[in-house]
Amino acid sequence: MDFKGKDIISINDLTREEIDAILHTVESVRKHPDKRRLCKDRVSAMLFFEPSTRTRTSFEVAMRNLGGQVSGFYDARITSAVKEESLWDTVKIHDGYGFDVMVIRHPLKGAARLAAEASTIPVINAGDGPNQHPTQTLLDLYSILETQGRLDGLTVAMVGDLAYGRTVHSLTEALLKYNNCNLMFISPRDLAMPGHLIDKCRKEGPQRGNTFEEGRRIEDYIAGVDVLYLTRIQKERLEARTALAEKFRSIYRLEAGMLKDAKPNMKVMHPLPRVDEIAPDVDHSPHAYYFQQARNGLFVRETLLALILGAVR
Ligand code: CP
Repeated sequence: MDFKGKDIISINDLTREEIDAILHTVESVRKHPDKRRLCKDRVSAMLFFEPSTRTRTSFEVAMRNLGGQVSGFYDARITSAVKEESLWDTVKIHDGYGFDVMVIRHPLKGAARLAAEASTIPVINAGDGPNQHPTQTLLDLYSILETQGRLDGLTVAMVGDLAYGRTVHSLTEALLKYNNCNLMFISPRDLAMPGHLIDKCRKEGPQRGNTFEEGRRIEDYIAGVDVLYLTRIQKERLEARTALAEKFRSIYRLEAGMLKDAKPNMKVMHPLPRVDEIAPDVDHSPHAYYFQQARNGLFVRETLLALILGAVR
């Protein structure tokens, strides 16, 4: 499969076969004997209009590990966006500076797709508002595969802000490409999974034996799941609804004692940052996997860059 020059904007742009191919390439890139030369002299443009710790740093380190470099900005307030330069023009300018690939994070849904239209080099969506975060989903899938040994036939509970959490949107759409998965959406009613994704589960789920249900109480699900995927309340996307954000801030708080009936191999995952959703005592549990999950982001992003830049096939 050839990913050279491909944009990664939505997990829906990838077939199951393409996702599997990316995940199966990770080990070979990670242990590549000539890794430091795979992307030698290649440069990634980093256009971060929103804060980031993991996505930004892992892309930077990934490019360095492959022998390449990065350049760009991580705070739109020091760019000409404050002078009302359009996203289209900002992308066009970077496109003309000889970069090989562009990584963009932006608060608006559709921003990465627009960037891909404006750009002649491949664009990777590092998160567009509440919409999609496909590289997070690839690292989530990699982490699930690594711990569960499969992506079919799993029971996955997604917990928290399912309305605005882009990682759970991408993960739901990804798991619908697999077979016989049970998806549990646990959230307050005000922060439920968007209707279009519920409709998609309803329509496409039965084609591959996938089911879903919506619930409110995390305690009702812990014993039955293979993966417990927690998310924080996306306060920055609730805008004027800060009272709602405060109300739900601690609504789902996982503590170590709640894991006593979990399956032995059940893993707790979280895209991070966490706020109050996971108590520190969970970190010492064999079920905790969120730090390894974040580390896997480095390996998955190395692989994506190597594939898109044509360094591996
Ligand atoms: N998971 C994730 O996207 O983290 P950052 O916002 O820190 O990049």
